[in-house]
Amino acid sequence: MSSGAIYNLFREKLNKPKTEIDPAIKPALIKFNTFLQQFKQSASPRVLDVCCFRGLEAAFLKREFLQSVTIVGVDLVCEAVQEAKKKGRIDEGYAANLATDDASLPFDEVDFAYCLRSGPAFDNKEVRKMLGHVKSKLRRGGRFFYQDLVRNGDRYDKSIAEIVADQQKPAVRAIRTKQQLLEAFHEAGFETTKTEITEPQHDQFYTTGIFFLKKPM
Ligand SMILES: C[S@@+](CC[C@H](N)C(=O)[O-])C[C@H]1O[C@@H](n2cnc3c(N)ncnc32)[C@H](O)[C@@H]1O
Repeated sequence: MSSGAIYNLFREKLNKPKTEIDPAIKPALIKFNTFLQQFKQSASPRVLDVCCFRGLEAAFLKREFLQSVTIVGVDLVCEAVQEAKKKGRIDEGYAANLATDDASLPFDEVDFAYCLRSGPAFDNKEVRKMLGHVKSKLRRGGRFFYQDLVRNGDRYDKSIAEIVADQQKPAVRAIRTKQQLLEAFHEAGFETTKTEITEPQHDQFYTTGIFFLKKPM
């Protein structure tokens, strides 16, 4: 799927008003807050929300835990970023295509970044570009909380295309194995300090993984 098709897919979603996050995503945000509290060096850290869309995750974090942080949102859909900014869900917002080499990210470096469910957005090649952009904006020693669907590679060997067709999830472009993700993090220059893979909760084909990453000093 091209960036244009992805743009249209998510632009379309904006037409459906939504003001609260999906409850299924709350545990990951709670874990992100715990992670941030553990490594926070200043009272008001800067946090990058990778693929912020209309900022509902950022709004939840600010309301529940992070009143004193600055959240910088980046997303492909400029209208979504505008909505997130207008509603005060993020402090700074930028429209950028993180799947390209030349994404323009004209903001100061951040202490933390989080990205939830990148599989629908980035294929294997694009995820490497996204990781590179995040790393370029993270301070040395900064932390990146990365949550995604993880494929149960050794339990199921059908192609991704077949899985997608089976599951009728046209937006799921790439469900990577844990190993593929670890390789991508390593290539991008991140240290993976911890990994959590849940027992399959969606079905036997894929599950959820959380990867705790660090940009080396
Ligand atoms: C699962 S949604 C994110 C949900 C969002 N964090 C929230 O709080 O509602 C995936 C997002 O990835 C964005 N996206 C897809 N491809 C992208 C790209 N190449 N660069 C930047 N953002 C992209 C989409 O526009 C969409 O907003």
